[in-house]
Amino acid sequence: MDKIKKYTVGKPFPTNAVVGKISECTSLPSYINISGENRVLSYEMGKLDKVYGLGEAVRGINKRGWIYESYCSDDPMHTETKRSLYGAHPFIIIDGETLFGLFVDYPDKVTFDIGYSDIDMLTVTVKTADYDLYIIEGDTPLEIVASFRRLIGKSYITPYWAFGFQQSRWSYYTSKDVQSIIDGYRSSDMPIDAVYLDIDYMDSFKDFTVSEERFPDFEEFVRSAKSQHIHLVPIIDAGVKAEDGYTVYTEGRDNGYFCKDKDGNDFYAAVWPGKVCFPDFLNTEAAHWFGMKYKILTDMGIDGFWNDMNEPAIFYSEKQLDKAIDKIAGYKGKNIGIYDYFGLKDTVLGLSNSAEDYGAMYHNADGEIVCHDKVHNLYGFNMTKSASEAFKEIAPDKNILLFSRASYIGMHRYSGIWTGDNQSWWSHIKLNLQMLPSLNMCGFMYTGADLSGFGDNSTEELSLRWLALGIFNPLMRNHSALGTKDQEYFRYKNKDIFRNLLRLRYALIPYLYSEYRKAIENDDMMFKPLAFVYRDDKTAQFVEDQLILGDSIMIAPVYEPNAPGRYVYLPENMLMVRFKSDTEYDCESMTKGHHFIEIPVTDVVIFIRDGQALPIVKAAMHTDDIDLSTMTFITNNNGGEYELVTEEETKTVKYDRTGDICS
Ligand code: GLC
Repeated sequence: MDKIKKYTVGKPFPTNAVVGKISECTSLPSYINISGENRVLSYEMGKLDKVYGLGEAVRGINKRGWIYESYCSDDPMHTETKRSLYGAHPFIIIDGETLFGLFVDYPDKVTFDIGYSDIDMLTVTVKTADYDLYIIEGDTPLEIVASFRRLIGKSYITPYWAFGFQQSRWSYYTSKDVQSIIDGYRSSDMPIDAVYLDIDYMDSFKDFTVSEERFPDFEEFVRSAKSQHIHLVPIIDAGVKAEDGYTVYTEGRDNGYFCKDKDGNDFYAAVWPGKVCFPDFLNTEAAHWFGMKYKILTDMGIDGFWNDMNEPAIFYSEKQLDKAIDKIAGYKGKNIGIYDYFGLKDTVLGLSNSAEDYGAMYHNADGEIVCHDKVHNLYGFNMTKSASEAFKEIAPDKNILLFSRASYIGMHRYSGIWTGDNQSWWSHIKLNLQMLPSLNMCGFMYTGADLSGFGDNSTEELSLRWLALGIFNPLMRNHSALGTKDQEYFRYKNKDIFRNLLRLRYALIPYLYSEYRKAIENDDMMFKPLAFVYRDDKTAQFVEDQLILGDSIMIAPVYEPNAPGRYVYLPENMLMVRFKSDTEYDCESMTKGHHFIEIPVTDVVIFIRDGQALPIVKAAMHTDDIDLSTMTFITNNNGGEYELVTEEETKTVKYDRTGDICS
């Protein structure tokens, strides 16, 4: 860790982002200026300097030209004007004449003004000057990423089946609805491994309950789904419904496990079930208590969960609602002009996730009373950590799928993340692509966006194009919001194209899983910007819509409507592979440079790097049936070796020039 320098300012709250100890330095590198109130640093960027990182954030791979906040935010409108999304990932790399990484370990808001207020200046500020600053030097961005990842520890490893395709929607109300989804895929010969249970499986949105009316004999239902090779994955929300007689609430209340208000009474707010309390995940005993509740569902055969609303999302608190209602009542009978009208609107919109509420909520961090707004970014992290740690007690021999919406650096050791409530917008296909490397930089390897988009209505073309990228997302899940148009793939007219793409995913799973595991093992990125790989290629430095995936391939998906294809930049000679399905494909050698590639919606085009090969297997209907003995290679070399990682072992597979396995 010699290339990492740590500076402690003030009295930082321990975040648990970093593993291991690293000693403090006193003198800062000369290029960093920390003068100014709450300023972590200001740095004059060179004209062509690039800034990478920030994990889950809007805009491009190069983050320059905007202002971002590392602050877990429940906001479903991921427009380019937003400053923060659900995850808080305050790590960046500045790539210019001087190359260095910067991690501001601080659990409250960190602001990264990257050429927004002043086109040349990078300025990083915090709310209060209590943080650990890590400066990471290295010869390349990948070297800096590797050092940073060693600093924050190894990423979570998901079960193999979680690389299968997964279908979700908010509004599968009954077990019959869920079964009809399974049947829809199975009867269409479309591979699938999991179906999700959103809040409607619960009894009145109460965590760890199952509606007996809508999901009768749940245990049997889970068993029957398993017999069809389907895992059911229920959602768990952060807020616990405040209802007498509901034991999760009464136990939490009676043991003092919930967050408090300033007077030490339970802090109440409202989310899906109405009035809720928030478990105090910064308290070891409370976190352990909540974590062990997952056993209620694992005992029924459940082996995967998604943790949601854990920024935590607050619709309103009683106090703020009362204030708002009084204010609104004051408008009654008035001739409301523009400013009053804006005031009225803001009063209602401002009720959710308000700074006032976060400032009125307190944790008992094992004896230290701390206001939530000082440690906001640690809530979802610790909710998810509590589940992950409980799984070790509940099912020590089992690998349970877990991913979360809110996150902070360090949570990657316990789970994956999905990127929250995106929309069925073309721009969000590109955003999905651009987030993958930034998330990998921060250790989040098992990740993906809601395919076809969560909010708004998808179309067949958008779903197809998104799926052509989705087959490369480690977490490959189609999910949509209540009230939107159905978007399960078997419902579309051109079922055969969707089937081909889904089958292609399954043919690629051994490669995707191997590259995922190797990236974790080597503190590497599974998805790399071209700029990280082809350091001397000036054009590659600014390519924003293509990625190197693992060691062997480059992907360049289409993300625009009505496009016959797209321009692709090849940073080296590559073998273009045009897949029509898992078994039907043709190859063409391509030279370094710019090419217009025709890509109809029926095709998935990938590029095999010079000297590399891509293993593929015969597609299966679910991951249990993937047969590695059917493996062949599409080669852009004269034969060689591939390190194949499965859940059980790592082995070297030798193949010849034609792609046949020779030992
Ligand atoms: C949140 C989640 C979304 C889920 C919905 C209902 O918006 O991000 O995925 O479907 O809540 O639970």
